[in-house]
Amino acid sequence: MLTNLLIASLLSLAAPSSSPEIVEGIQGYVPTPEVLESRQRFSDDKFGIFIHWGVYSMLGRGEWVMNTDKIRFSDYSILPGGFYPGNFDAAEWVSAFKAAGARYITITTRHHDGFSMFKSRWSDYNIVDATPFGRDIIKELADECHKQGITINFYYSLLDWCREDYPLGNSGHHSGRDESKANYASYLDFMCNQITELLTNYGPVGCIWFDGDWDHIKKKADGSYPDIDFDWGYGRIYELIHSLQPGCLVGNNHHRRTIPGEDIQLFERDVPGENTAGYSRTDVVSTALPLETCQTINKSWGFDINDHTYKTDQELIRLLVRTAGRNANLLLNVGPQPDGRIPALSLERLAQIGEWLSVNGETIYGTRSTLLKPQPWGVVTEKDNKIFLHVLEKPESGSIVLPLSLKVKSVRSFADGTELNFKRTKSELTVVLPESYDCSTDYIVEITVK
Ligand code: GLC
Repeated sequence: MLTNLLIASLLSLAAPSSSPEIVEGIQGYVPTPEVLESRQRFSDDKFGIFIHWGVYSMLGRGEWVMNTDKIRFSDYSILPGGFYPGNFDAAEWVSAFKAAGARYITITTRHHDGFSMFKSRWSDYNIVDATPFGRDIIKELADECHKQGITINFYYSLLDWCREDYPLGNSGHHSGRDESKANYASYLDFMCNQITELLTNYGPVGCIWFDGDWDHIKKKADGSYPDIDFDWGYGRIYELIHSLQPGCLVGNNHHRRTIPGEDIQLFERDVPGENTAGYSRTDVVSTALPLETCQTINKSWGFDINDHTYKTDQELIRLLVRTAGRNANLLLNVGPQPDGRIPALSLERLAQIGEWLSVNGETIYGTRSTLLKPQPWGVVTEKDNKIFLHVLEKPESGSIVLPLSLKVKSVRSFADGTELNFKRTKSELTVVLPESYDCSTDYIVEITVK
């Protein structure tokens, strides 16, 4: 008895009583076989294109312009009346993404400005009813993705700067909303109705990608973040998604630990394990969940007419490799122009990535990275009986020591098949790199194990 009490009190010391992982999300979530299969497929895909597109593209200052420029909703809502992206061509977009080597796209169906880029019967503030364009671009893209055989995922903002029933959070303070009308129950019904549309009218959807949770996270006085500040009703939302499309995954860019009902852990602007941008407050939560890092191609998500700070093709390819080498996918963003075109430089970069992947895709797609954590010289990916060393920096010693006991069949340069020297002991494999090689993008060594 005494021992039991002692153990109970020790346990209560070890685990804080209000663990956020069990009070939010779906209680007792057990992923279905369909979800488990989708998670595997998602992890295999490795590379996706993020698309931030909305009426804000007309102002050419990113998707936050309504907030940063303190635009009132009564003024901002003039924009849809002039939105006519006459050059939009879903087939052209999807072909460019496929040629880039992307296996999925994730598009903003509704961003924080509250404008729905799809036909919705729950709000007239949508692309079909409120613009002269009158076309449901989400439908056109979804159909085209299904036709060309790549997955379509939907980004959906939890926060809304226009609707009065959305309770005011950290942003959207200048939109002129009547705060007294806040009614989260009504807003939650609205979101569930729209999510139902998205998962009913557009065929199979790979993932619903939520964003905006942080609108209701307030830093504590000591600078740390509390885990829960606001009850979004995630249990209801996630159940709905899984019931409407059992294979659809749930991701939430809340920058916190994943909660039950979520199937992917998302990282913003950093590869898992790094936090240069300051959003990644948690490390990898579970090895059971696929990981995804989203990053911009220049500095902006939504179209910014002044942003010419494009990452080079080499930087982007190395980012993809570094991401795969952390067992994660890269979701690379493009911000289409108001005329419906994807910026020319973005298309150029995508083509360059596609060229590289058409030669080196075997070392990325379908791989996992679990054998060895990232090293100063680079990263490792593996698939079946192949291990790929992605050398990103030349090791001074001229060789790479892998603390792995492997029965090796061959060690080759992936680019031209040249045999490389190696030494093996019981617990280590040493790969001797050639005297001269170029790793300014990625020098890949292919190890075939017996
Ligand atoms: C941040 C930005 C948002 C963008 C998202 C993409 O949350 O606030 O505008 O959509 O990142 O990851």
